[in-house]
Amino acid sequence: MSRKPGNRCPPRILDAILRTKRTAEGCAWGHTLDNFFCAKPPASASGTAGKEEEYSWTDVWTTSVLHGPADEGSISREPAMRARKPWPVLKIPRRGGDSVPALGDVDPGSDHENDGPDSALSTGELAPCYERGELATRDADPFQIDTFPKLEEFVPPEYLPDALCVHDPDHRVSGIEPTEDIVYYRRVFPAQNSGAGETATPERSGSRRVGHLYLTRQSRVGCGHHSNVYRASFRLPAPLETDSGGFVAVVAKVAVPRREAREHLDHEAATYQSFPSHLAQEFCGYALVPNVKYPVPVSAVVPKFFGYYVPEHGAGDIAGPSPILLLEECGSPVDPTNLSQDSKAECFSLFLRLHLSGFLQKSAFKKNILVQPGPLTVHPSQRSLETPGFRIIDFGRAVRRPPVGNQKDWLDEKESEVRDVQKVLRIPRYSMS
Ligand SMILES: Nc1ncnc2c1ncn2[C@@H]1O[C@H](COP(=O)(O)OP(=O)(O)O)[C@@H](O)[C@H]1O
Ligand SMILES: [Mg+2]
Repeated sequence: MSRKPGNRCPPRILDAILRTKRTAEGCAWGHTLDNFFCAKPPASASGTAGKEEEYSWTDVWTTSVLHGPADEGSISREPAMRARKPWPVLKIPRRGGDSVPALGDVDPGSDHENDGPDSALSTGELAPCYERGELATRDADPFQIDTFPKLEEFVPPEYLPDALCVHDPDHRVSGIEPTEDIVYYRRVFPAQNSGAGETATPERSGSRRVGHLYLTRQSRVGCGHHSNVYRASFRLPAPLETDSGGFVAVVAKVAVPRREAREHLDHEAATYQSFPSHLAQEFCGYALVPNVKYPVPVSAVVPKFFGYYVPEHGAGDIAGPSPILLLEECGSPVDPTNLSQDSKAECFSLFLRLHLSGFLQKSAFKKNILVQPGPLTVHPSQRSLETPGFRIIDFGRAVRRPPVGNQKDWLDEKESEVRDVQKVLRIPRYSMS
Protein backbone atom coordinates (compact mmCIF):
# COMPACT_ATOMS: atom_id res chain seq x y z
CA MET A 1 0.00 0.00 0.00
CA SER A 2 1.52 3.35 -1.02
CA ARG A 3 1.46 6.22 1.46
CA LYS A 4 -0.35 9.42 0.55
CA PRO A 5 2.19 12.21 -0.03
CA GLY A 6 0.32 14.35 2.53
CA ASN A 7 1.22 11.87 5.31
CA ARG A 8 4.96 12.16 4.75
CA CYS A 9 6.96 14.13 7.23
CA PRO A 10 8.70 16.99 5.36
CA PRO A 11 12.45 16.24 5.29
CA ARG A 12 13.38 19.47 7.11
CA ILE A 13 11.02 18.63 9.96
CA LEU A 14 12.27 15.05 10.03
CA ASP A 15 15.83 16.38 10.19
CA ALA A 16 14.89 18.64 13.07
CA ILE A 17 13.24 15.77 14.94
CA LEU A 18 16.28 13.53 14.43
CA ARG A 19 18.56 16.35 15.58
CA THR A 20 16.79 16.86 18.88
CA LYS A 21 18.91 15.80 21.86
CA ARG A 22 17.19 12.94 23.66
CA THR A 23 17.38 10.93 26.85
CA ALA A 24 18.03 7.17 26.77
CA GLU A 25 14.23 6.66 26.70
CA GLY A 26 13.94 8.92 23.65
CA CYS A 27 12.51 12.02 25.39
CA ALA A 28 13.57 15.44 24.03
CA TRP A 29 16.25 16.85 26.35
CA GLY A 30 17.47 20.36 27.22
CA HIS A 31 20.24 21.44 29.56
CA THR A 32 18.26 24.18 31.32
CA LEU A 33 14.65 25.29 31.27
CA ASP A 34 15.77 28.08 28.91
CA ASN A 35 16.43 25.39 26.31
CA PHE A 36 12.69 24.74 26.05
CA PHE A 37 10.15 26.91 24.28
CA CYS A 38 6.48 26.74 23.45
CA ALA A 39 5.88 26.38 19.70
CA LYS A 40 2.22 27.38 19.99
CA PRO A 41 1.17 31.01 19.54
CA PRO A 42 0.38 32.71 22.86
CA ALA A 43 -3.29 33.01 23.84
CA SER A 44 -3.23 36.76 23.10
CA ALA A 45 -2.39 36.01 19.43
CA SER A 46 -5.30 33.58 19.08
CA GLY A 47 -7.83 35.94 20.69
CA THR A 48 -8.26 33.85 23.86
CA ALA A 49 -6.14 36.02 26.14
CA GLY A 50 -7.11 35.78 29.78
CA LYS A 51 -7.97 32.08 29.64
CA GLU A 52 -5.57 29.60 31.13
CA GLU A 53 -2.99 28.58 28.53
CA GLU A 54 -3.97 25.31 26.95
CA TYR A 55 -1.18 23.42 25.30
CA SER A 56 0.14 19.93 25.44
CA TRP A 57 3.67 18.53 25.69
CA THR A 58 3.76 18.31 21.88
CA ASP A 59 3.65 22.13 21.75
CA VAL A 60 6.88 22.40 23.74
CA TRP A 61 10.19 22.05 21.88
CA THR A 62 13.85 22.20 22.76
CA THR A 63 16.40 24.56 21.24
CA SER A 64 18.40 21.63 19.83
CA VAL A 65 15.62 21.21 17.26
CA LEU A 66 16.32 24.70 15.88
CA HIS A 67 19.93 24.19 14.97
CA GLY A 68 20.89 22.66 11.65
CA PRO A 69 24.33 21.41 10.59
CA ALA A 70 25.28 25.04 9.76
CA ASP A 71 24.78 25.95 13.44
CA GLU A 72 26.98 23.22 14.91
CA GLY A 73 28.91 25.90 16.82
CA SER A 74 25.86 27.17 18.64
CA ILE A 75 24.44 23.73 19.39
CA SER A 76 27.73 22.55 20.82
CA ARG A 77 27.56 25.40 23.34
CA GLU A 78 24.70 23.56 25.04
CA PRO A 79 26.48 21.11 27.38
CA ALA A 80 26.07 17.40 26.72
CA MET A 81 23.70 15.30 28.75
CA ARG A 82 25.70 13.49 31.40
CA ALA A 83 25.09 11.29 34.42
CA ARG A 84 25.34 13.12 37.74
CA LYS A 85 27.65 11.65 40.34
CA PRO A 86 26.25 10.84 43.77
CA TRP A 87 28.34 12.10 46.69
CA PRO A 88 31.32 9.68 46.72
CA VAL A 89 31.70 7.21 49.54
CA LEU A 90 33.70 4.33 48.05
CA LYS A 91 37.45 4.52 47.75
CA ILE A 92 40.27 2.34 46.53
CA PRO A 93 43.73 2.68 48.09
CA ARG A 94 46.36 3.78 45.58
CA ARG A 95 48.90 1.24 44.44
CA GLY A 96 52.19 2.99 43.68
CA GLY A 97 51.42 6.39 42.22
CA ASP A 98 49.20 5.50 39.23
CA SER A 99 47.84 8.64 37.66
CA VAL A 100 44.46 7.22 36.72
CA PRO A 101 41.27 9.24 37.30
CA ALA A 102 40.18 9.38 40.93
CA LEU A 103 37.43 7.16 42.13
CA GLY A 104 35.18 9.18 44.31
CA ASP A 105 35.05 12.39 42.30
CA VAL A 106 32.61 14.99 43.51
CA ASP A 107 30.02 15.98 40.91
CA PRO A 108 31.29 19.12 39.15
CA GLY A 109 27.84 20.76 39.31
CA SER A 110 25.73 22.36 36.65
CA ASP A 111 28.31 25.02 35.73
CA HIS A 112 30.63 22.30 34.50
CA GLU A 113 28.29 20.06 32.59
CA ASN A 114 30.22 20.19 29.35
CA ASP A 115 32.89 17.91 30.73
CA GLY A 116 31.85 14.86 28.75
CA PRO A 117 29.45 11.98 29.11
CA ASP A 118 31.12 10.36 32.11
CA SER A 119 29.12 8.34 34.59
CA ALA A 120 29.63 7.92 38.31
CA LEU A 121 31.78 4.84 38.46
CA SER A 122 32.61 2.94 35.35
CA THR A 123 34.63 -0.23 35.34
CA GLY A 124 37.51 1.64 33.71
CA GLU A 125 37.59 4.24 36.48
CA LEU A 126 37.73 1.61 39.15
CA ALA A 127 41.47 1.30 38.99
CA PRO A 128 43.34 1.54 42.29
CA CYS A 129 43.68 5.27 42.53
CA TYR A 130 42.64 6.80 45.80
CA GLU A 131 44.99 7.47 48.60
CA ARG A 132 44.11 8.87 52.01
CA GLY A 133 46.04 8.02 55.12
CA GLU A 134 43.01 7.96 57.41
CA LEU A 135 41.18 5.21 55.50
CA ALA A 136 39.70 2.50 57.69
CA THR A 137 41.85 3.33 60.66
CA ARG A 138 39.15 3.08 63.30
CA ASP A 139 37.17 0.04 64.33
CA ALA A 140 33.52 0.52 63.46
CA ASP A 141 30.69 -1.36 65.20
CA PRO A 142 28.82 -2.92 62.26
CA PHE A 143 25.55 -3.00 64.19
CA GLN A 144 25.57 0.82 64.57
CA ILE A 145 23.85 0.89 61.21
CA ASP A 146 22.67 4.50 61.36
CA THR A 147 26.25 5.72 61.60
CA PHE A 148 27.20 4.54 58.09
CA PRO A 149 26.82 6.52 54.89
CA LYS A 150 24.33 5.31 52.30
CA LEU A 151 25.77 3.54 49.29
CA GLU A 152 24.51 5.52 46.29
CA GLU A 153 27.24 4.84 43.76
CA PHE A 154 27.11 2.32 40.96
CA VAL A 155 29.27 -0.69 41.86
CA PRO A 156 30.49 -2.71 38.86
CA PRO A 157 29.50 -6.38 39.27
CA GLU A 158 33.09 -7.59 39.61
CA TYR A 159 33.40 -5.49 42.78
CA LEU A 160 30.31 -6.96 44.46
CA PRO A 161 30.88 -9.89 46.83
CA ASP A 162 30.63 -13.37 45.31
CA ALA A 163 29.55 -14.59 48.71
CA LEU A 164 27.86 -12.90 51.64
CA CYS A 165 28.23 -13.62 55.32
CA VAL A 166 24.98 -12.45 56.94
CA HIS A 167 25.20 -11.55 60.63
CA ASP A 168 21.63 -11.93 61.84
CA PRO A 169 21.34 -12.18 65.63
CA ASP A 170 17.60 -11.39 65.53
CA HIS A 171 16.88 -14.06 62.88
CA ARG A 172 15.48 -11.62 60.32
CA VAL A 173 16.16 -13.94 57.37
CA SER A 174 14.56 -17.00 58.98
CA GLY A 175 12.16 -19.11 57.01
CA ILE A 176 9.80 -21.41 58.88
CA GLU A 177 12.69 -22.71 60.94
CA PRO A 178 14.90 -20.30 62.92
CA THR A 179 18.29 -19.69 61.38
CA GLU A 180 21.76 -19.52 62.89
CA ASP A 181 23.20 -16.16 63.93
CA ILE A 182 25.43 -16.23 60.86
CA VAL A 183 24.12 -17.47 57.49
CA TYR A 184 26.20 -17.86 54.32
CA TYR A 185 24.91 -16.76 50.93
CA ARG A 186 26.09 -16.81 47.32
CA ARG A 187 25.40 -14.26 44.63
CA VAL A 188 22.91 -15.08 41.88
CA PHE A 189 22.61 -11.64 40.22
CA PRO A 190 24.59 -10.04 38.73
CA ALA A 191 25.82 -13.42 37.48
CA GLN A 192 29.27 -14.29 38.81
CA ASN A 193 30.99 -14.14 35.42
CA SER A 194 29.33 -10.93 34.25
CA GLY A 195 32.46 -8.87 34.90
CA ALA A 196 34.78 -11.28 33.13
CA GLY A 197 37.02 -9.69 30.55
CA GLU A 198 36.77 -6.20 32.05
CA THR A 199 39.96 -4.26 32.48
CA ALA A 200 40.08 -3.52 36.20
CA THR A 201 39.58 -6.78 38.04
CA PRO A 202 39.70 -6.47 41.83
CA GLU A 203 42.15 -8.43 43.81
CA ARG A 204 40.85 -11.62 45.36
CA SER A 205 41.68 -13.01 48.75
CA GLY A 206 41.32 -16.75 48.35
CA SER A 207 38.96 -17.98 45.69
CA ARG A 208 35.89 -15.87 46.51
CA ARG A 209 35.32 -12.29 47.48
CA VAL A 210 33.29 -12.29 50.67
CA GLY A 211 31.14 -9.38 51.85
CA HIS A 212 29.42 -8.98 55.21
CA LEU A 213 25.86 -7.87 55.95
CA TYR A 214 24.51 -6.95 59.41
CA LEU A 215 20.77 -6.91 60.18
CA THR A 216 18.86 -6.12 63.34
CA ARG A 217 15.20 -6.11 64.32
CA GLN A 218 15.34 -2.34 65.04
CA SER A 219 16.65 -1.49 61.61
CA ARG A 220 13.45 -2.44 59.77
CA VAL A 221 12.46 0.43 57.46
CA GLY A 222 9.37 -1.06 55.91
CA CYS A 223 7.21 -4.06 55.27
CA GLY A 224 4.77 -5.11 52.60
CA HIS A 225 2.49 -8.06 51.96
CA HIS A 226 5.39 -10.29 51.07
CA SER A 227 8.48 -8.91 52.65
CA ASN A 228 10.38 -7.06 55.31
CA VAL A 229 12.91 -4.41 54.43
CA TYR A 230 15.88 -3.55 56.67
CA ARG A 231 18.51 -0.88 56.68
CA ALA A 232 21.65 -3.00 56.86
CA SER A 233 25.34 -2.31 57.15
CA PHE A 234 27.28 -3.75 54.28
CA ARG A 235 31.02 -4.37 54.20
CA LEU A 236 32.21 -4.68 50.62
CA PRO A 237 35.30 -6.84 50.08
CA ALA A 238 38.73 -5.39 49.23
CA PRO A 239 39.80 -3.30 47.46
CA LEU A 240 36.76 -1.10 48.15
CA GLU A 241 37.12 1.05 51.24
CA THR A 242 35.31 3.91 52.96
CA ASP A 243 36.19 6.46 55.62
CA SER A 244 33.73 4.64 57.92
CA GLY A 245 35.80 1.50 58.39
CA GLY A 246 34.70 0.05 55.07
CA PHE A 247 30.99 0.00 55.94
CA VAL A 248 28.11 1.49 53.99
CA ALA A 249 24.34 1.33 54.48
CA VAL A 250 22.02 -0.39 52.01
CA VAL A 251 18.55 -1.87 52.27
CA ALA A 252 18.05 -5.63 52.41
CA LYS A 253 14.68 -6.97 51.30
CA VAL A 254 13.77 -10.44 52.57
CA ALA A 255 10.65 -12.47 51.78
CA VAL A 256 8.29 -13.92 54.37
CA PRO A 257 8.23 -17.74 54.36
CA ARG A 258 5.51 -18.25 51.73
CA ARG A 259 6.02 -19.69 48.25
CA GLU A 260 4.35 -16.70 46.57
CA ALA A 261 6.50 -14.21 48.51
CA ARG A 262 9.71 -16.01 47.54
CA GLU A 263 8.59 -16.09 43.88
CA HIS A 264 7.90 -12.34 43.98
CA LEU A 265 11.38 -11.67 45.36
CA ASP A 266 12.97 -13.90 42.67
CA HIS A 267 11.02 -12.06 40.01
CA GLU A 268 11.92 -8.66 41.46
CA ALA A 269 15.63 -9.58 41.43
CA ALA A 270 15.43 -10.71 37.79
CA THR A 271 13.67 -7.44 36.96
CA TYR A 272 16.38 -5.30 38.60
CA GLN A 273 18.95 -7.37 36.72
CA SER A 274 17.24 -6.62 33.39
CA PHE A 275 16.75 -2.88 33.93
CA PRO A 276 18.94 -0.78 31.63
CA SER A 277 21.55 1.00 33.76
CA HIS A 278 20.23 4.49 32.89
CA LEU A 279 17.06 3.82 34.94
CA ALA A 280 19.12 3.92 38.14
CA GLN A 281 21.11 7.03 37.16
CA GLU A 282 20.36 10.71 37.50
CA PHE A 283 21.21 12.94 34.52
CA CYS A 284 21.66 16.67 34.27
CA GLY A 285 19.04 18.77 32.52
CA TYR A 286 15.34 18.30 31.81
CA ALA A 287 13.25 16.07 29.56
CA LEU A 288 9.94 16.37 27.81
CA VAL A 289 8.27 13.14 28.79
CA PRO A 290 5.22 12.42 26.63
CA ASN A 291 2.03 13.09 28.59
CA VAL A 292 3.66 15.54 30.99
CA LYS A 293 3.10 19.12 29.83
CA TYR A 294 6.26 20.57 31.35
CA PRO A 295 9.94 19.64 31.22
CA VAL A 296 10.89 17.49 34.24
CA PRO A 297 14.31 16.65 35.75
CA VAL A 298 15.93 13.48 34.39
CA SER A 299 16.20 11.84 37.79
CA ALA A 300 16.88 8.18 38.57
CA VAL A 301 13.73 6.06 38.26
CA VAL A 302 14.67 3.05 40.41
CA PRO A 303 17.13 2.34 43.27
CA LYS A 304 20.61 1.08 42.44
CA PHE A 305 20.84 -2.70 42.62
CA PHE A 306 23.66 -4.27 44.66
CA GLY A 307 22.89 -7.93 44.03
CA TYR A 308 20.60 -10.85 44.79
CA TYR A 309 21.92 -13.50 47.16
CA VAL A 310 20.53 -16.95 48.04
CA PRO A 311 21.50 -19.19 50.98
CA GLU A 312 24.42 -21.56 50.34
CA HIS A 313 22.32 -24.35 51.82
CA GLY A 314 18.61 -24.89 51.27
CA ALA A 315 18.04 -22.26 48.56
CA GLY A 316 14.46 -22.63 47.33
CA ASP A 317 13.35 -24.28 50.58
CA ILE A 318 10.55 -22.26 52.26
CA ALA A 319 11.62 -23.61 55.64
CA GLY A 320 15.12 -22.24 55.07
CA PRO A 321 16.42 -18.66 55.12
CA SER A 322 15.03 -16.12 52.66
CA PRO A 323 17.03 -14.89 49.70
CA ILE A 324 18.20 -11.26 50.06
CA LEU A 325 17.83 -8.41 47.60
CA LEU A 326 20.29 -5.55 48.22
CA LEU A 327 19.26 -2.08 47.06
CA GLU A 328 20.10 1.57 47.48
CA GLU A 329 18.13 3.10 50.35
CA CYS A 330 15.88 5.76 48.81
CA GLY A 331 13.85 7.38 51.60
CA SER A 332 10.28 6.91 52.73
CA PRO A 333 6.89 6.65 51.02
CA VAL A 334 5.44 9.87 49.59
CA ASP A 335 2.38 11.59 50.95
CA PRO A 336 0.60 12.79 47.78
CA THR A 337 -1.41 15.35 49.78
CA ASN A 338 1.87 17.18 50.50
CA LEU A 339 3.42 17.02 47.04
CA SER A 340 3.82 20.16 44.93
CA GLN A 341 2.62 20.11 41.31
CA ASP A 342 6.26 19.87 40.18
CA SER A 343 6.89 16.87 42.43
CA LYS A 344 3.73 15.15 41.19
CA ALA A 345 4.79 15.74 37.60
CA GLU A 346 8.23 14.32 38.38
CA CYS A 347 6.83 11.20 40.12
CA PHE A 348 4.38 10.67 37.25
CA SER A 349 7.24 11.05 34.74
CA LEU A 350 9.20 8.26 36.50
CA PHE A 351 6.42 5.78 35.69
CA LEU A 352 6.17 7.08 32.12
CA ARG A 353 9.93 6.71 31.65
CA LEU A 354 9.76 3.18 33.10
CA HIS A 355 7.07 2.40 30.49
CA LEU A 356 9.18 3.92 27.72
CA SER A 357 11.98 1.59 28.82
CA GLY A 358 9.65 -1.39 28.38
CA PHE A 359 8.53 -2.15 31.95
CA LEU A 360 5.29 -1.85 33.92
CA GLN A 361 5.55 -1.77 37.69
CA LYS A 362 2.07 -3.24 38.33
CA SER A 363 1.90 -2.09 41.95
CA ALA A 364 1.13 1.63 41.76
CA PHE A 365 0.63 2.56 45.42
CA LYS A 366 1.95 5.52 47.35
CA LYS A 367 4.05 3.25 49.60
CA ASN A 368 5.91 2.19 46.44
CA ILE A 369 6.99 5.74 45.56
CA LEU A 370 9.78 6.98 47.81
CA VAL A 371 11.05 10.46 48.55
CA GLN A 372 14.35 11.52 50.13
CA PRO A 373 16.27 14.77 50.66
CA GLY A 374 18.35 15.81 47.67
CA PRO A 375 20.29 16.45 45.63
CA LEU A 376 22.40 13.32 45.96
CA THR A 377 25.36 15.09 44.33
CA VAL A 378 26.07 17.02 47.55
CA HIS A 379 27.14 15.81 51.01
CA PRO A 380 24.19 14.28 52.97
CA SER A 381 24.38 17.13 55.52
CA GLN A 382 23.56 19.63 52.76
CA ARG A 383 20.56 17.78 51.32
CA SER A 384 17.03 18.94 51.86
CA LEU A 385 13.45 17.95 51.17
CA GLU A 386 13.16 21.35 49.44
CA THR A 387 15.04 19.60 46.63
CA PRO A 388 13.55 16.12 46.87
CA GLY A 389 14.53 12.98 44.99
CA PHE A 390 11.93 10.34 44.08
CA ARG A 391 12.13 6.65 43.12
CA ILE A 392 9.78 3.85 42.26
CA ILE A 393 10.29 0.58 44.17
CA ASP A 394 8.64 -2.87 44.44
CA PHE A 395 8.96 -4.79 41.18
CA GLY A 396 7.72 -8.17 42.42
CA ARG A 397 4.87 -8.02 39.89
CA ALA A 398 6.62 -6.05 37.16
CA VAL A 399 5.86 -6.93 33.55
CA ARG A 400 8.19 -6.54 30.59
CA ARG A 401 6.99 -5.45 27.15
CA PRO A 402 6.82 -8.51 24.86
CA PRO A 403 9.72 -8.27 22.37
CA VAL A 404 7.61 -9.29 19.34
CA GLY A 405 4.03 -9.97 18.32
CA ASN A 406 0.80 -8.47 19.50
CA GLN A 407 1.39 -5.89 22.21
CA LYS A 408 -2.24 -4.93 22.72
CA ASP A 409 -2.49 -6.46 26.20
CA TRP A 410 0.71 -4.71 27.25
CA LEU A 411 -0.54 -1.38 25.93
CA ASP A 412 -3.90 -1.82 27.71
CA GLU A 413 -2.11 -2.62 30.96
CA LYS A 414 0.12 0.40 30.45
CA GLU A 415 -2.89 2.69 30.05
CA SER A 416 -4.39 1.21 33.17
CA GLU A 417 -1.15 1.79 35.13
CA VAL A 418 -1.06 5.42 33.91
CA ARG A 419 -4.58 5.92 35.28
CA ASP A 420 -3.65 4.21 38.58
CA VAL A 421 -0.61 6.46 39.02
CA GLN A 422 -2.66 9.60 38.30
CA LYS A 423 -5.13 8.47 40.95
CA VAL A 424 -2.44 7.67 43.53
CA LEU A 425 -0.72 11.01 42.97
CA ARG A 426 -4.04 12.88 42.84
CA ILE A 427 -3.30 14.33 39.45
CA PRO A 428 -6.37 15.59 37.62
CA ARG A 429 -6.38 13.88 34.21
CA TYR A 430 -6.66 17.08 32.18
CA SER A 431 -3.65 18.66 33.87
CA MET A 432 -0.91 16.50 32.40
CA SER A 433 -1.27 15.64 28.72
N1 LIG B 1 15.01 0.93 48.44
C1 LIG B 1 14.31 1.26 49.53
N2 LIG B 1 14.67 2.33 50.29
C2 LIG B 1 13.97 2.68 51.40
N3 LIG B 1 12.88 2.00 51.84
C3 LIG B 1 12.48 0.93 51.12
C4 LIG B 1 13.15 0.50 49.94
N4 LIG B 1 12.53 -0.57 49.46
C5 LIG B 1 11.49 -0.82 50.29
N5 LIG B 1 11.44 0.09 51.29
C6 LIG B 1 10.42 0.19 52.36
O1 LIG B 1 9.86 -1.10 52.59
C7 LIG B 1 8.47 -1.10 52.23
C8 LIG B 1 8.13 -2.44 51.60
O2 LIG B 1 8.95 -2.64 50.46
P1 LIG B 1 8.36 -3.24 49.12
O3 LIG B 1 9.49 -3.43 48.17
O4 LIG B 1 7.24 -2.39 48.62
O5 LIG B 1 7.80 -4.66 49.61
P2 LIG B 1 6.50 -5.50 49.18
O6 LIG B 1 6.86 -6.14 47.89
O7 LIG B 1 6.33 -6.51 50.27
O8 LIG B 1 5.36 -4.53 49.09
C9 LIG B 1 8.27 0.09 51.30
O9 LIG B 1 6.95 0.59 51.33
C10 LIG B 1 9.27 1.08 51.89
O10 LIG B 1 8.73 1.74 53.03
MG1 LIG C 1 5.27 -2.55 48.31
